[in-house]
Amino acid sequence: MASSALILALCALTASSLAPVKAPASTQPRNNILSVPERIAQKRQELGDRLPFTTEQIDIEEDTTTIGSLEVPSVALGTISWTPEKERTGFRPGDRLDGKVGTEEARAAVATAALEEGLTFFDTAERYSVGVGETLLADALADGAEYITREMETDVSVGEAYLADTLAAGEEWFMSAKQDTVVATKFTPTPWRRGAQSVVDACEASRKRLGVEQIDLYQIHMPDVVQPGRFFGFVECKDEEYWEGLARCVELGLVKEIGVSNYGPSLLRKCSAFMAKRGLKLASNQIHYSLLARNKGNNQATVDAANELGIKTLAYYPLAMGLLTDKGDQRTGALEHYATGGTGFIGFPFLAKNQVRVPEGGVKPLLDELRAVGAERGKTVTQVALNWIMGSGVIPIAGATTEKYVRDAAGARGWRLTADERRRLEDAADALGFEFQGTFAKRVDGKFVGYGVEEWRLD
Ligand SMILES: NC(=O)c1ccc[n+]([C@@H]2O[C@H](COP(=O)([O-])OP(=O)(O)OC[C@H]3O[C@@H](n4cnc5c(N)ncnc54)[C@H](OP(=O)(O)O)[C@@H]3O)[C@@H](O)[C@H]2O)c1
Repeated sequence: MASSALILALCALTASSLAPVKAPASTQPRNNILSVPERIAQKRQELGDRLPFTTEQIDIEEDTTTIGSLEVPSVALGTISWTPEKERTGFRPGDRLDGKVGTEEARAAVATAALEEGLTFFDTAERYSVGVGETLLADALADGAEYITREMETDVSVGEAYLADTLAAGEEWFMSAKQDTVVATKFTPTPWRRGAQSVVDACEASRKRLGVEQIDLYQIHMPDVVQPGRFFGFVECKDEEYWEGLARCVELGLVKEIGVSNYGPSLLRKCSAFMAKRGLKLASNQIHYSLLARNKGNNQATVDAANELGIKTLAYYPLAMGLLTDKGDQRTGALEHYATGGTGFIGFPFLAKNQVRVPEGGVKPLLDELRAVGAERGKTVTQVALNWIMGSGVIPIAGATTEKYVRDAAGARGWRLTADERRRLEDAADALGFEFQGTFAKRVDGKFVGYGVEEWRLD
């Protein structure tokens, strides 16, 4: 009993004194998640039931859901804003300029916090962070897990008698955190990627960058909307070729589950039927969804269709890029018109169709309601906003740019808003008179593709 109490105290101490170690830069993931099950089995054999490692987070960790055969926490973390060191790949639109997740240490701190909080489900894509996002994530997860273990192992405040227990507990923690980690990544359709084999080849490359034998969830990032031939009257939609490739990835054992992203109800049905004919199940669809994105672009209809088909929906921009957080009404730059009201452009060219008109007060009335519900429950705005999504049966992918944000997101688990509270929030959202449509490089209904912007809808 005394040793368990000490271990708990150690965990608390560790959590409050995080300063991830510097590890050498590398483009290859240093971890090999492949070997973890064997290592866990070996460790379990050594430990027997001597030290089952428990923390106060266990209750929250029971707040999980499923994507096909995968069991995941009901909140995921997104890494789109993780930026590689400048000297490695240079800057591109959409990269962060504030360096929050632009260093190895910062990313390791985010991963460490996530693992400690039991937020072990991460979303990335082959195209994130100028093509090295998967490697950054694999490295950060390895750094985070190693850091926590090392902190436990080197804590000199532990008396001799407890040292062995602490070492074993740290090791057990490390193993289970890594075993539970689920990573989702994405294939990007492009005009030069032709045929099913292009998906299999991309999947192999992602698998290597992630350092895994099987990718947990492999998604097609978007419908095949990039069609430069359009200007010459030539449009060639390769969606079905990509579905064939996705199916082969499962059949070859390269991936555990398959999903799509930015698919509306009809495409979702077609893809689902295609997979069913092959005896496969489409497990997920990732779309823009939040209190600020329900009605305007078929978002809720897409969630409803997915539910009907038994497909899990994952929500990106769940916090509307920070508008649905405590600081939502103070957002500046391209988000300012959403935050306070006014007319703003969300993309080029500066034409009326790229304008969003937001009534005076912007998002504030909704924030007031989020704050009121949060105050009654002792929760933050972020936690209430994420919890609303969870209550819709959807997994929010919260942007993980700082350790603080990760810990905030973790508080969305372990409880649910009541139907009454949900209605209050939905009424406040509906009364705003606008929905969130993203901004410029991060528009939700269009993609900048060099020769212009290709637009799509969740049809
Ligand atoms: N499938 C797709 O096409 C697609 C498209 C976009 C995104 N995604 C996925 O969805 C994930 C989420 O997108 P996102 O990160 O852009 O959107 P988000 O979660 O709606 O917003 C993230 C931003 O909100 C702010 N924030 C987050 N937590 C906060 C907190 N607790 N308190 C205050 N501010 C907070 C931060 O802004 P500051 O850093 O400025 O403070 C952060 O960068 C991505 O990482 C990616 O994995 C997928």
